[in-house]
Amino acid sequence: LDGEHVGAFEGLAAPDGPLHPMQEAFRENHGLQCGYCTPGMIMTAVDMVRRKGNDLDDRTIREQLEGNICRCTGYHNIVKAIAAGARAMRGSGATSKAAE
Ligand code: FES
Repeated sequence: LDGEHVGAFEGLAAPDGPLHPMQEAFRENHGLQCGYCTPGMIMTAVDMVRRKGNDLDDRTIREQLEGNICRCTGYHNIVKAIAAGARAMRGSGATSKAAE
């Protein structure tokens, strides 16, 4: 990673600014789980949008989440949140910055 920018969950939104569109989508769609898996889910989701675009179907989202393991839920609201967040990121300027 020499010379690369590494982003963290805490850097998605400005300290006193609005939530990142993906964070807001998780809040609105009840995709928030525990403090262990949620930051990873959201960072994966933001990177997923950067790599796959803003129109994500359920199958793509579930396949892309295979490395994020939560044994507490069925992922249903997380998948809904990611699809909504991906759409909300369109034109927001938030697509690539957070995942860099
Ligand atoms: Fe986070 Fe299950 S809710 S690991």
